[in-house]
Amino acid sequence: MDESRFLEILEAIPDGVILADRNGKIVYANTSALGCLDIGLDAIVGRDLKRFLSPLPLVEGKREAMLRLKEGRRPVRIILSRLSNMDWMVFIDDITEIHRLQNEILKIDKLASLGGLTAGIAHEIRNPLAGIKTTVQALEGELGRHDTRRVYLERIVHEINRLNKLLQSFFDFAKPRNPEMRVCDVRDIVENALVSVRSIAKQNHIDLMQSYLASNSMVYTDPDMVSQVLVNIFINAIQAVGHNGRVDVRIEDEGKSIIISVIDTGHGIPENIRSKIFDPFFTTRPDGMGLGLSISYRLMRMLRGDIGLETSDAGTTFRVFVPKYTVSI
Ligand SMILES: Nc1ncnc2c1ncn2[C@@H]1O[C@H](COP(=O)(O)OP(=O)(O)OP(=O)(O)O)[C@@H](O)[C@H]1O
Ligand SMILES: [Mg+2]
Repeated sequence: MDESRFLEILEAIPDGVILADRNGKIVYANTSALGCLDIGLDAIVGRDLKRFLSPLPLVEGKREAMLRLKEGRRPVRIILSRLSNMDWMVFIDDITEIHRLQNEILKIDKLASLGGLTAGIAHEIRNPLAGIKTTVQALEGELGRHDTRRVYLERIVHEINRLNKLLQSFFDFAKPRNPEMRVCDVRDIVENALVSVRSIAKQNHIDLMQSYLASNSMVYTDPDMVSQVLVNIFINAIQAVGHNGRVDVRIEDEGKSIIISVIDTGHGIPENIRSKIFDPFFTTRPDGMGLGLSISYRLMRMLRGDIGLETSDAGTTFRVFVPKYTVSI
């Protein structure tokens, strides 16, 4: 086989391929490898292979490692082998997407097992609680209208109601109902969610600003579920901002989805907890349950949407992606 045919074959391989001589001096790299490393052929030929593989040693075998590629450090799978003349042949494959999917599966698994557990416990608590409430109410009926002991019973009922609310969150988390999909306008969903949080924002002197940039904001979704997600994100934003801050809500058209962005001027989410905030029961707030975002994430996945975020110490933007309504012809 002549050399040009050989190079044509290497070029056709979808993985990155790098060839180096026995001393590790690079003699060739196919287009995929050049794309992966974000370098031109002229700039790579003659360079030391070890430099590109660092911190991996130049030793035969198959490995996964984090290498510095064009967009920062990314996971790659590398196969290093020696040809019969002791030259090096390297296969390099960017596996960022595989890693992302693996993490996603782990997250879903974790949610599913916790879901089963909480549903079981919540169920066992709910029934005796209902019994306690009816007994207290019966007792209330026995007391005279002006009996001062009523206040004790009211306190018990108040605490029972609080526990019931907590249990409802567990149920929402463990077993969300089936979505009821319909065509609706995202603007109505946002307005509906804002109604529930306006008074909290007002109490904290926070400006809630809206801007609707999408001309078409029709989506196909379960509006109550999206509204529930937005309320969670609005409340988090209000809590992060504290007093006298600002929360912006924007609606944009992204092609396949309508994006609702919730932009706050709060304290941001520190790097070391960013990967945990969607985990159930992860919270940094003394009175938080850590269920808001995990329920929201779960609901959006059920609706074939998504949640993304960007954060810095100047604030955080949560983006909720809601699949658009498209008319099929
Ligand atoms: N906009 C935000 N700015 C800064 N931190 C945030 C923001 N949103 C969420 N977080 C962080 O993510 C954590 C998890 O949020 P999540 O809504 O799941 O739970 P929570 O608000 O703590 O409790 P819950 O919503 O169950 O009452 C919060 O405790 C907070 O540390
Ligand atoms: Mg929350």
